[in-house]
Amino acid sequence: MTEHAGLLRKAIEAREFSYAPYSKYQVGAALLSESGKVYKGCNIENAAYSPTNCAERTAVFKAVSEGERKFTAIAIAGGPEDGELNRAYPCGVCRQVLFEFVDEETFEVVVGTGPDDYDVFKLKDLLPFGFRL
Ligand code: THU
Repeated sequence: MTEHAGLLRKAIEAREFSYAPYSKYQVGAALLSESGKVYKGCNIENAAYSPTNCAERTAVFKAVSEGERKFTAIAIAGGPEDGELNRAYPCGVCRQVLFEFVDEETFEVVVGTGPDDYDVFKLKDLLPFGFRL
């Protein structure tokens, strides 16, 4: 299995813990740090809706809060609670959060439904002109 497919498999595992009783759209993410560690995240919804956190940001915040600040790739797996996975592209807010901690020229975003069905994007193509101070 390729590294991309392996990371996507971990995103699918991470999705098992998704808390999405409102949208019923479950997402998992697996974030690879430069040091080789993988941080998993899932979406966590809230009855007040706006405090909802995406899977990607859960993974980034877990990692950064444990001292990691450099990442090389993320895989994302999403789909309805009782259906098939479909391609879950990262939302704009998550793209900007990733941008803060990566080299956008090389950072890879793996989006797919399984080890045999995925695409790989560079963050700079998903978020051109991201914001930096
Ligand atoms: N969601 C993610 O976890 N990641 C994305 O990139 C897009 C959306 C979540 C948020 C919410 O819990 C559900 O998907 C439906 O929007």
